[in-house]
Amino acid sequence: MSEKKDITILAIESSCDETAAAVVRNGRHVMSDIISSQVPVHVKYGGVVPEIASRKHIEAITGCVDGALKEAGVTLKDLDGVAVTYGPGLVGALLVGVGFAKSLAFAADLPLVGVHHIDGHISANYIEDETLKPPFVCLVASGGHSNLVYVRDYGVYDILGQTRDDAAGEAFDKVSRALGLGYPGGPAVDRAAREGDPDAYEFPRAKIPDASYDFSFSGLKSAVLNLINHAKMSGEELRVANIAASFEKAVVDVLVEHTVRAADETGAKIVSIAGGVAANTRLRECMGKACSERGLKYVHPSLRLCTDNAAMIGAAGYYRFIAGARSGLDLNAEPNLPLGDRERRFHGNMGKTREGAQ
Ligand code: KG4
Ligand code: ZN
Repeated sequence: MSEKKDITILAIESSCDETAAAVVRNGRHVMSDIISSQVPVHVKYGGVVPEIASRKHIEAITGCVDGALKEAGVTLKDLDGVAVTYGPGLVGALLVGVGFAKSLAFAADLPLVGVHHIDGHISANYIEDETLKPPFVCLVASGGHSNLVYVRDYGVYDILGQTRDDAAGEAFDKVSRALGLGYPGGPAVDRAAREGDPDAYEFPRAKIPDASYDFSFSGLKSAVLNLINHAKMSGEELRVANIAASFEKAVVDVLVEHTVRAADETGAKIVSIAGGVAANTRLRECMGKACSERGLKYVHPSLRLCTDNAAMIGAAGYYRFIAGARSGLDLNAEPNLPLGDRERRFHGNMGKTREGAQ
C-alpha cells in the first residue's frame, strides 16, 4: 500500500487588521505562522479604519507570504494548494488577500481554496489538539461574531445561536473605549478586570425567549455606558477596574451558560472556544471549570491561535481541500459570507436540521 501523501497548504488571512500567512501540513502541523499586526497604526484612531487597513495589507502581504515560505523551509513547488480567507470581513482588506492568493495560485498552477473566516477560527482547535475530531460544540466569539455552533463534521456547522446585535468582542471594544482603556479593547478590559471586583455591579444578562441560544450584548453595553455617563456627570469617581470586572463577568456568564447548555442538549462530549474573545482570561477559566464539573472535554486554542492568524485558515483549508473543495480564479471577497453553503440551524434534536436556514 502506498504511503499517504502529506498535504502542505499555504494560507493567507487579511480580513481585518492582521496580515497573516502560514504553511500548515495535514491541517494540524504548523510549519510557519507569520502575523503582521496593524494595531500600532489603528491605535491612534481608537479602532480599525478600513481604508488604512487595506493599504497596510498591501504593504505587508508579500513579506508575510515570503516569510512564511522561508520559515517553513518550502518553496511554491512543495505546496499542494493555497487557502485564503474570502469572507466575512472588511471588503477592501479581504480583497488584498484574495487577489494575492489568486495570483499565486495562477502563477504556480496550484489549487485555490476559499475559506470562511469563522471556519478558520473553529479549526484553530484542530491545531491545538491533534486528537480533536467532530462532533463538538464550539463557542465562537470575536470582534464581528458571536456564534454557538454544533460542529457536526469538519467544516459542517449547525448554528445553534448567534448574536442579535453586538458581537461579544464589539461589546468589549466599546466598553473599553468608554472606560478610557483604548483599543484593542478586549485585552485592555481583561487586564483591568483582574484588579477589580466582578460582583461590584449587577449588570443585565439578556435572555431571548424564542431563541435561547442567541446572544444580545447591546443592553449590557448600554447599561455600562449609562453607569459611566452618570458617574461622569455626577462627578463620582469612575471605578474602572470594578466596572471592567463586572461587565466581563456578565458577558462570560452568558457565554458559558449557553455553551454548556448546548453541550447538554446536543449530547456533545467536547466543548471548545474560538475567536479573539476566547483569549479572555475569565472566559478560559470559567469555561474550563464548567466543563470539568460536567465531565466534558475542554479544548481552547493558545492565545496566538485565538486572535486572527493564518495557521487557522490553513487548518480549515486543509479539510476543505481533502473534501474536494476548489475555488475558481474568479473568487471574490464576500464581506457578509454566511457560515458556509452547508450552514444549517439546529432544530431541537440532533436528527432534525434544516439545510440552508438562516
Ligand atoms: O478574532 P479576532 O482577532 O478578529 C475578528 O475576527 O473579529 O477578534 C478580535 C476581538 C476584538 O473585539 C478584541 O477586543 C477581542 O477579540 N479580544 C478579547 C481579548 N483579546 C481579544 N476580548 C476579551 N478578552 C481578551 N483577552
Ligand atoms: Zn477573527
